[in-house]
Amino acid sequence: MTQPKRYLITSALPYANGLKHVGHLAGAYIPADIYTRYLRAQKRDVVFVCGSDEHGTAIPIQAAKEGTTPRAIIDKYHEAMKQDFEDLGMSFDIYHRTSEPIHHETAQEFFTYLNDRGELEVKETEQYYDEEAKSFLADRYIKGTCPNCGSDRAFGDQCENCGRTLSPDELINPVSTLSGSAPVKKKTSHWYLPLGKHEAFLREWILKEHKDDWRANVVGQCKSWIEGGLQSRAVTRDLDWGIKVPVAGADGKMLYVWFDAPIGYISATKQWAIDNDKDWKPYWYDADTKLVHFIGKDNIVFHAIIFPIMLKLHGNILPSNVPSNEFLNLEGDKMSTSRNWKLDMRDYINDFVKKENGGEQCVDMLRYYLTQIAPETKDSEFMWKGFQDAVNSELVSIFGNFINRTWVLMHKLCGGKVPKLHEELLDDTDKELMKEIGNAKSKIENLLEDFKFREALFEVIDLSRKGNQYMQKKEPWIKAKKTTDDGPQSTEAQKEIDNCLHLCLQLSANLAILINPFLPFTAKKMLHMMKVVEKMLDWENAGKLKLLSVGYALRAPELLFRKIEDDEIKFQVEKLKAGLVKKEEQKVEAPKSETAALKSEIVFDDFAKIDLRVGTIVTAEKVEKADKLLKLSVDLGFETRTIVSGIALHFKPEDIIGKQVVVVANLAPRKMRGIESNGMILMAENKDGKLHFVNPDSIINPGAPVN
Ligand code: MF3
Ligand code: ZN
Repeated sequence: MTQPKRYLITSALPYANGLKHVGHLAGAYIPADIYTRYLRAQKRDVVFVCGSDEHGTAIPIQAAKEGTTPRAIIDKYHEAMKQDFEDLGMSFDIYHRTSEPIHHETAQEFFTYLNDRGELEVKETEQYYDEEAKSFLADRYIKGTCPNCGSDRAFGDQCENCGRTLSPDELINPVSTLSGSAPVKKKTSHWYLPLGKHEAFLREWILKEHKDDWRANVVGQCKSWIEGGLQSRAVTRDLDWGIKVPVAGADGKMLYVWFDAPIGYISATKQWAIDNDKDWKPYWYDADTKLVHFIGKDNIVFHAIIFPIMLKLHGNILPSNVPSNEFLNLEGDKMSTSRNWKLDMRDYINDFVKKENGGEQCVDMLRYYLTQIAPETKDSEFMWKGFQDAVNSELVSIFGNFINRTWVLMHKLCGGKVPKLHEELLDDTDKELMKEIGNAKSKIENLLEDFKFREALFEVIDLSRKGNQYMQKKEPWIKAKKTTDDGPQSTEAQKEIDNCLHLCLQLSANLAILINPFLPFTAKKMLHMMKVVEKMLDWENAGKLKLLSVGYALRAPELLFRKIEDDEIKFQVEKLKAGLVKKEEQKVEAPKSETAALKSEIVFDDFAKIDLRVGTIVTAEKVEKADKLLKLSVDLGFETRTIVSGIALHFKPEDIIGKQVVVVANLAPRKMRGIESNGMILMAENKDGKLHFVNPDSIINPGAPVN
């Protein structure tokens, strides 16, 4: 295999319309990050770009939901997504945004280039128009019944239920989401990219050239598109949010988001080059560049068919591969933002990484599990129990355990230094392990080059498993007894101990190199324990048996991973279910309004009977066998009260200590689960079902009346 001169790696640009969940992370981001880190360790020339997709109707729709402007939405979610990616170790060389002027210019130039060369067609068609809202309806603004699965959660571009790509005309009983009325057809003209003209090219390039090296799901989808007849695709829209069509008189017309967004990879590369004083052109024009797009399966046609046609017409290189993942489900059900059935990256960060016993190890734990279950060939399942098992019985018990044992024994039996290798005493078990270390490199390398990340990771863990087995066979702790008990035999026994730990240490160094693309923070910690510089992680060092020199003093062991406890898992599952139940209740009870109906009127005297006070939570603990209850003690200034509150699914006890709350202080005592509760805490319930404390805007003295 000849090596390309340089690599450009892209991860799909996420829409800046909301936080992203771990399904996204597992699909297009972690695999790209692993691949890029591997290439960097190989010292290859690689640029890894990503950024926010800030156009398309998803943005104004979210703005309407939140009662704000599209600009405010993209600013908010761009920052939020960027932060989340960073917190989870995504090592983009640039995280750009498509609202930047450099992107608008790049996309317009691209359009003009194709248009000037006659590669686009202008067609007048009839499109859905909402007469009440006086607006053409973008695909996303039309809802109806899916012709494929019959679900009523189908939009003009895609069915939310079965995932099928749709056009508005295919929808049964279309309805405008702007006004709720049935839309009418009205004439409008747009620019189209005639895909049909490129059928021969696609057949040759995808179905012949790449039929074996692209994933079967990608080739399969492309094949059915090609066989299904390639229609011309509109690349402009009637919209007021997006990139203006750069043609005189085309007022009110914008580039279609799927035309501009992938060009975002190019503008991101340009910006990266400006920031780093590099030339961006070879990355997009030189045939010796390997371009790889990492995406989720709903993006396949855009990256494997439409964008490549655009690139070809524009004189750019084509992607070498488009590794796409299938979907990740959660606890037996499809992840869904609208049903609140998901695990947001942000929630994981808050509940694990930012916790006291969290930190970077928790980032690597998530990266580990998501890689292990990556839906590379078929949909797969995120199960909290599975996460716990992966962490506890693989990372902790196999990988972490091997490293820890090695370090502890090396300190105990070899004086904290790398012991000597006595070649003359090497037996078959030693030689077998040495061989395994040598083999692992090429095995893992081939899998990575093939985008088989879960298998590659399995091999790394398997190598550490072999380390454990080796140590179990060698039992240096038994031999250590001999050195003290047997007198004359002692030097012989010590030599065997030395050999065992020497090899275990060299294996540890290898494991650091091999795990680095997957779990970079773990590799960093291991470097620290080995007291070596980052250079050791260069991929070319993998397979070597002399990475740590004899006599070199190593640091004390640090635990690489912590266990995940049962109650953490239980908490997550309950939280997930609570969110879903809330959503469904709301749907039934309040179909029109998002707020609860008003209670009947009361007179002032009724209100005056209620004694409300500010209190400070001093302790909080779970009530045994009651999932929803927390037992609190609340300082009311004049006394400290025990209050039992049904908020356990929303807050962890340790997070609310010190919080100020408003208490109904003269409520008659009530026994709950055998505990007397003296008062009630006021909570506000958001429309997503989450509870929030009602509290003063700054800290005030406990006991203060609230009137
Ligand atoms: N924003 C799209 C999505 O979330 C992906 C765009 S990828 C790009 O599905 F190539 F267009 F940038
Ligand atoms: Zn459907």
